[in-house]
Amino acid sequence: MVTGAAQGIGAAIVREFLREGATVAAIDIKPEVRVGFQAVPEQAGKVRAYVLDISNHEAYRSCVEDVAKREGKIDVLVNDAAICFYGDIFEDSLENWRQVQAVNLEAIYWGCKLVAPHMARQRWGRIISIASTQAIATEGRLGSYTAAKGAIMSFTKSLAVELAPHGILANAIAPGCIHTPMSVIDGVDETQTELFEEWYVRRRKIPLARPGEPEEIARVAVFLASDDCSYVTGHTLVADGGLTVTF
Ligand SMILES: NC(=O)c1ccc[n+]([C@@H]2O[C@H](COP(=O)([O-])OP(=O)(O)OC[C@H]3O[C@@H](n4cnc5c(N)ncnc54)[C@H](O)[C@@H]3O)[C@@H](O)[C@H]2O)c1
Repeated sequence: MVTGAAQGIGAAIVREFLREGATVAAIDIKPEVRVGFQAVPEQAGKVRAYVLDISNHEAYRSCVEDVAKREGKIDVLVNDAAICFYGDIFEDSLENWRQVQAVNLEAIYWGCKLVAPHMARQRWGRIISIASTQAIATEGRLGSYTAAKGAIMSFTKSLAVELAPHGILANAIAPGCIHTPMSVIDGVDETQTELFEEWYVRRRKIPLARPGEPEEIARVAVFLASDDCSYVTGHTLVADGGLTVTF
């Protein structure tokens, strides 16, 4: 099961999981998720789209029940869907804060709660949550988003401890600057500006001197979802081209 599957990193994760032969439930609030994967080349697995708002608890519960009924099991949950509002503490509103926590944090808690019993029954499962380097080092103006992402990293540790006896591993991924629709702010692609080019590329604030592509995060998710990942749990894997190790 992959949330946030209509575009960006979530869509790339669905594509890579399909190539690996997985059967994927692609979940998104955007109806585009229904048509997004029809043209995936070398598609080995199969995909079923679910259009819902993951912060709607009953809709999410019905979705998980439907997946479990159709497939007979749930092996992997990728918590990718997220929203963000830009604004400092003076500009931001309590309403925005609550909306961000509802989608970026509470829905993750709820999704884990819904799938964990299915995974525990088969004594195998993988939960992968997409955090962000914004939770490690931040430029500001993203307080509610940063708070939710930091909480995801902490929650992942708690999940790892609680679910280990049931054969379930829980990890997070913290992407840096990834080239997706989320990097477009007010119509400007933040990974293509002169400032980005000067600071992150020419001065190598990102040592690898480029934004990441969604597929580069998706391959990390494939590893964390696989049997190759057998002794890693409670970890947040940073995939940022080195961004957070530079001054
Ligand atoms: N792009 C980056 O640079 C970057 C960096 C760090 C972390 N991330 C994280 O990676 C993940 C994916 O980001 P992206 O850049 O692909 O974002 P995106 O905005 O391109 O995609 C997010 C998807 O989530 C869906 N979504 C949002 N709210 C939803 C809801 N309530 N119910 C169901 N679906 C919902 C959206 O419709 C969208 O398809 C997010 O968790 C994001 O915070 C992204």
